[in-house]
Amino acid sequence: MIVVTGATGKIGSETVRLLAEQGLATRALVRDPARAPGGSFPAGVDIAVGDFERTDTLDAAMRGADTVVLISPSVPEQEIAVIDSAVRQGVKHVVKITNHKATASSPVGRRRDHARIEAHLRASGLGFTLLAPNIFMQNLFAFAPVIKQTRGFVMSAGDGRFAMVDSRDVAATAAAVAAAPDDHAGRTYLLTGPELITYADVARALSDELGHEIEYRRISPAEHRAAMIEAGVPEPVATSNAQVFGLIAEGDAEWLSDDVEAVTGVPPRDVRTFIADHVSAFV
Ligand SMILES: NC(=O)c1ccc[n+]([C@@H]2O[C@H](COP(=O)([O-])OP(=O)(O)OC[C@H]3O[C@@H](n4cnc5c(N)ncnc54)[C@H](OP(=O)(O)O)[C@@H]3O)[C@@H](O)[C@H]2O)c1
Repeated sequence: MIVVTGATGKIGSETVRLLAEQGLATRALVRDPARAPGGSFPAGVDIAVGDFERTDTLDAAMRGADTVVLISPSVPEQEIAVIDSAVRQGVKHVVKITNHKATASSPVGRRRDHARIEAHLRASGLGFTLLAPNIFMQNLFAFAPVIKQTRGFVMSAGDGRFAMVDSRDVAATAAAVAAAPDDHAGRTYLLTGPELITYADVARALSDELGHEIEYRRISPAEHRAAMIEAGVPEPVATSNAQVFGLIAEGDAEWLSDDVEAVTGVPPRDVRTFIADHVSAFV
């Protein structure tokens, strides 16, 4: 049995779909099953209603499982609770979504959080595989309302290059690892799209697909932070996001890997494919 946490989210919902498609015994850990994409999970998927904050529900979800795909908003106490429950319930392998730059001394809080969880996982004695994705293409959905209204978007990542990855390819990698965990024990995979691009390239790809000019308006991280706070983003999130965008401008996300294809056998999607698949979201 493979348990997928965060099963209503971007990576988790697609991981569940792919595992079920292969006929593998799959359990989705969810707070609310109705939040599944389209309102329900594929037939045959076991649903465990639970919460990272409630140990009893984690233990019930882990019972009888061999493998856990651990996806969450990466609050350390919550992921550590899942790992501890996995140990108690005799799980053998955890596939964890993490961050490529996760270190205990990172200036970015969420990277320190991932480092803390990774350290706990390594010390747990469980088998594990770490999946470290570059920036998700799905983050572009946050631009959709402003693209519709203004035919442009603002960003504070300058001309920094990144290897944006489609979260469907992160899910495909997670599903492939979960299906054969022993083949991937102790490995860390860097998950990227097929190319290094900038937000100017994203604007060009959107312009070509939509048939009219989409402008990339460059702002500074400080301006971006203020704009996010004014738009209602909680201050710590706005501060952390602006910090990361500033780092991207300096080349922090300029890393590329062929691990998606190496693990899944299929090349990762490029940003033009992502936009074409989701064009209705941007018009
Ligand atoms: N976005 C990026 O560019 C990027 C890049 C690299 C790495 N990552 C990593 O990707 C991970 C997030 O993956 P994602 O984008 O697929 O997640 P997501 O779409 O934000 O979904 C989060 C999931 O966690 C569930 N959840 C939240 N709180 C919970 C709780 N207390 N108990 C049980 N479930 C709970 C949510 O359930 P509900 O539906 O009930 O809310 C949802 O299913 C993070 O570790 C992040 O650091 C993201």
